[in-house]
Amino acid sequence: MTFMTENIALLSPAAYAEAVTAAVVASAAYYGDGTTALGDDEYDGLLRAIAAYEEAHPDEVLAQSPTGKVAGGAVQGDVPHSVPMLSLDNVFDADELAEWADGLERRLGHPVAGWCVEPKLDGLAVAARYRGGRLVQVLTRGDGLAGEDITHAADAVLGLPPNLTKPIDVELRGEVLLTTAQFEEANRIRLAHEATPFAHPRSGAAGTLRAKDRPYRIELTFFAYSAIGLNDLGHVALLENLAALGANTAASTDAAPMRCETVEQVQKRIDVIAGLRADLPFGIDGVVVKADTAEDQRQAGNGSRAPRWAVARKLAAEHKVTRLRAVQWNVGRTGIIAPRAVLEPVVIDGVTVTYATLHNPSDISRRGLMIGDQVFVYRAGDVIPRVEAPLVDQRTGAESPIVFPDVCPRCGDAIDTSEQRWRCVRGRNCQAVASVIYAAGRDQFDIEGLGGTRAIQLVEAGLVKDVADLFTLTREQLLGLERMGETSAA
Ligand code: IVH
Repeated sequence: MTFMTENIALLSPAAYAEAVTAAVVASAAYYGDGTTALGDDEYDGLLRAIAAYEEAHPDEVLAQSPTGKVAGGAVQGDVPHSVPMLSLDNVFDADELAEWADGLERRLGHPVAGWCVEPKLDGLAVAARYRGGRLVQVLTRGDGLAGEDITHAADAVLGLPPNLTKPIDVELRGEVLLTTAQFEEANRIRLAHEATPFAHPRSGAAGTLRAKDRPYRIELTFFAYSAIGLNDLGHVALLENLAALGANTAASTDAAPMRCETVEQVQKRIDVIAGLRADLPFGIDGVVVKADTAEDQRQAGNGSRAPRWAVARKLAAEHKVTRLRAVQWNVGRTGIIAPRAVLEPVVIDGVTVTYATLHNPSDISRRGLMIGDQVFVYRAGDVIPRVEAPLVDQRTGAESPIVFPDVCPRCGDAIDTSEQRWRCVRGRNCQAVASVIYAAGRDQFDIEGLGGTRAIQLVEAGLVKDVADLFTLTREQLLGLERMGETSAA
């Protein structure tokens, strides 16, 4: 991964060393089991700062710096890749992309003969080897040079067919992920088996690809974006071939790869894909721009970490880590008592998020959330942000349990906890009772004798649905109530 390093404040030598350590730890976790204590944006920011320092102090580059590597560290026993599995360089805005495209065209000595713009799928890279059209081995990327054998996981991966439509030798490369629906289903299954839910789809995909001997099955989805053994095809044509062989590609989605003739068209397509992001049925963390023709790709060649003919235009992360400060219990119109997380404010894709939904009490218990936890928060498009999971290994011991209410926080009556979603036993009447009690209070209408019991009586008898009904109550109606004498009625 390399970064444009202009306009970045330089770290001190000590801060540089700290940043390298933090990035190595985060990268090992990411490529290990898919967890991370850092959000994607924070990780990218760290790498940019490291790269800027190294550019200014080339003699002080630490051996373990993540900038010099393809990815995390190779694990013993990994299977060598036929051809290194490369990463992508990143750009973060339209100017950086234009600069990258200029640089590529200068290197080629002529304009790029066409671009392909496609979603950057937020999953894990895999290589799937076919012999005579039959799937024989699936590998993770590992450190890019050798990866783990995960063939055992293949039959749960949709879009990765056991047999291709042609009996050829080929290695498909692409991304395995949990679609949003698969992620939700995975967490339903996990909770039913009393396993902790996945924090986000990528960590769920990573854990699932690795897992052996689970008592349940979690389906994943494969998207092919490259191949070894189908040479000399332009990228758009290559993707068509992959689909014809029976593999799933992003062509099956609204954000289908598209050929563009100019960088302006590329930018427009990026904006379209970014705009579709919240409605796509799977997560993307950017848009990949590739020189389309095999000739341009061959001429540009590959660096040790990334091809020179492709780049990732990163989009802001939809998952961020922040602290859970408190839980509020709000009672809705129908009496549903819904927990709401109060967060340390965090900016997700340009919007400051302070509150997030927490589903229901049993969900809080199953996720094991505590006040003070660092939590993953997800926000996409216009949906209400939600808390996904705590980062348990970040706990300091200062966290405290979330206290569940034992009476309705609005009207003070009992709570029906028989369903997943808790509800005030008064249901819709809860609001009426609470607002009548409030209206009758000393600082409002100061109605003598109209306290909790009477308010409940009035609402339950159907005489009062909201505060306005208090003004049309008749003496006769009041006298019809139990324990209501002439004096009280008057
Ligand atoms: S092309 C030589 N295309 O992003 C080609 N990668 O951050 C290198 N990724 O390692 C990869 N969607 O795991 C390519 N449409 C796409 C992609 C994609 C997701 C992943 C891939 C890569 C990582 C780099």
